[in-house]
Amino acid sequence: MSDPGVGRTRQSAIYRDGVFGKRPTVPTDAGALEARAQAAMSSTAWAYVAGGAGEGATMRANRAAFDRWQVAPRVLHGTTTRDLTTTLLGTTLRAPLLLAPVGAGCLVAPDSDVQIARGAATAGVPYVFSNQGCNPLEETAAAMGDVPWWFQLYWSTDEALVDSLIGRAEAAGAAALVITLDTTMLGWRPQDLNLGSLPFARGLGIAQYTSDPRFRELVASRVAVAAAKVKEKVRPTVGAVRSLIEMSRSHPGDFRANLTSPEPRAAVETFLEIYSNPALSWANLETLRERTRLPVVLKGILHPDDARRAFELGVDAIVVSNHGGRQVDRAIASLDALVSIREAIGRQPVVLFDSGLRTGTDLFVALALGADACLLGRPHIYGLALDGADGVASVVENVMAELDLTMGLTGVGSIPDLVPGLLTRT
Ligand code: GLV
Repeated sequence: MSDPGVGRTRQSAIYRDGVFGKRPTVPTDAGALEARAQAAMSSTAWAYVAGGAGEGATMRANRAAFDRWQVAPRVLHGTTTRDLTTTLLGTTLRAPLLLAPVGAGCLVAPDSDVQIARGAATAGVPYVFSNQGCNPLEETAAAMGDVPWWFQLYWSTDEALVDSLIGRAEAAGAAALVITLDTTMLGWRPQDLNLGSLPFARGLGIAQYTSDPRFRELVASRVAVAAAKVKEKVRPTVGAVRSLIEMSRSHPGDFRANLTSPEPRAAVETFLEIYSNPALSWANLETLRERTRLPVVLKGILHPDDARRAFELGVDAIVVSNHGGRQVDRAIASLDALVSIREAIGRQPVVLFDSGLRTGTDLFVALALGADACLLGRPHIYGLALDGADGVASVVENVMAELDLTMGLTGVGSIPDLVPGLLTRT
């Protein structure tokens, strides 16, 4: 018998378990997944992960853009097998899907990046490690096994830190370097602001920094300068004590020693000062070729002129993304940007897509509209919240299963056969 494909295999496994009264731990639809994850997460974790910029108009636009496209299935095509594999930047992938970088996952589960990496490795999809991760990239890399991973970088105002992070990513085996361009500052995020909650300010999501030799040098000089100053006595509040405990727990080294050391606080303050560079420009990017041998991917592009310029600069790929609606409110939907960018630059340059993608059929649509691969963001964090590494793998398997079934039901046998003609637009 021919291979039934990942979709039918997954369906059958779930239905067979159902016969014995077992239901999936991780819901198979995006709405229930999100609702169950919200119930499992703290209010600050939910605000950070699910929240967006301003009134949430960009997040809604991302979904509305998907709703404007419909699949026009064909019948009697006799398609019995599907090949989901694809080649991206010289690597063959199980499917055109990667896990997007999401910062501060430890708001949701301890050792979040290692757990996400385990889930990604189990499902056989690459993970793009966040510069705002909760585990040093070397630890996360070890959990990926043979499955490729990429490193996402925020361009710090400290150029030596940029080089140090790139060097570590190369040494640990990253397959590509992703530079995020749209977060030279954090957007206006009312959900976090209303709780007065920024994970990084409590020492969560800065593990790439606190494990970095150049960053530690910067922290040491801050500690030395502070020690030379006359100290002002401040009465600690309950909130401040709680934050100090969180910082000391996340900081490398012994928890008790950290509690009385100035280092964890100095690390947070150093981070807040240098983590991203509002002055970032094309001139910075021109220096990249001499700074890394890795393929370079620019993330956060929405305008065709920026896309053209990126490829003129010689980058290997771009990610069309509005950062999941977290940066600029009332921004153009990422899917609409994908269409206009493809129109402008043609089918050849490597273009990835994220923002608004939730399901396997969304993946089908984005690929048909010209994405070479897609990044899945919040849903994998929801999987983590519900079932750790297994939850991450389940979310990926569900998305792939639906992609596979949608391809089979519409007569598409392979990824290159996903073309705009399969869709209609309302
Ligand atoms: C970036 O790290 C973000 O919070 O979106």
